[in-house]
Amino acid sequence: MAIIKVQDLKFEYQDIKNAIGGVSLEIEEGEFVCIVGHNGSGKSTLAKLLCGLLVPTSGHIYIDGCELKAELENEENDMLRRRIGIVFQNPDNQFVGVTVKDDIAFGLENRQIERNEIIKRIDEYSRLVGMDKFLDRSPESLSGGEKQRVAIAGILACDTDIIILDEATSMLDPKGVREVLSVISNLKHKKTIINITHNLNEMVLADKVIVMNEGLITASGDVKTILENEELLKEANLVIPDTIKLLNMIRDSKISEDVEDEVCQLIFHR
Ligand SMILES: Nc1ncnc2c1ncn2[C@@H]1O[C@H](COP(=O)(O)OP(=O)(O)O)[C@@H](O)[C@H]1O
Ligand SMILES: [Mg+2]
Repeated sequence: MAIIKVQDLKFEYQDIKNAIGGVSLEIEEGEFVCIVGHNGSGKSTLAKLLCGLLVPTSGHIYIDGCELKAELENEENDMLRRRIGIVFQNPDNQFVGVTVKDDIAFGLENRQIERNEIIKRIDEYSRLVGMDKFLDRSPESLSGGEKQRVAIAGILACDTDIIILDEATSMLDPKGVREVLSVISNLKHKKTIINITHNLNEMVLADKVIVMNEGLITASGDVKTILENEELLKEANLVIPDTIKLLNMIRDSKISEDVEDEVCQLIFHR
């Protein structure tokens, strides 16, 4: 059974009628899914609907077969919402603690986890993201990449089954992007991950790619199929990575199938 199932989901803001115009999708447990699409295509709105931060205009969201009814404030819904953690784009907007340690503890305290267990998890997850030496630092003193790693540790510590990263690397410098992507790639198949991005280079990690355009899913498939569909990418206003342009040039010039295969393996890691 799919861990996330969405059926004919629609959402409108006051002045934007079809922010989500009828989306259906299924994500399997442990899958690593990338959602790509240009600015304003509805990615963040979809993420907020999945977390219960926005209430759908119509349609259904099921988490592990249970319908998420965002308008209901009951325990069952809270339990469902707590199965999903989200890391947002701006690393500065997601800190509540005075120190890194307080910050990771915050979600755990909210979940009424007992003190000793909190200490254990802070230790475990700060280590996992390579931030264990920074526990007493103030979040403001960290680089963007470090902040996002702390945000990820906070979510991992809460042990959510599903993690949504909403352009979590888009405001980082290249070093920060590398740091965060390396943490994310280590989580592959340990958690269900939805990585929202408009950077097509981030897609190579994905088991499945979903392309959004104007509030709709316009394509879905494996990375290779999506990346090689130039027309689709242009239509969705996405910038084709240089590596793919190179691959297509090698193909068109028919230099050698071996070279083509090697470049293909290098790009898609398979
Ligand atoms: N809080 C909001 N109020 C009104 N319109 C919004 C709001 N947030 C997003 N929108 C609009 O909804 C559409 C989808 O936006 P969004 O989901 O943020 O796209 P993406 O994350 O793909 O950039 C856009 O047209 C955007 O302008
Ligand atoms: Mg967005």
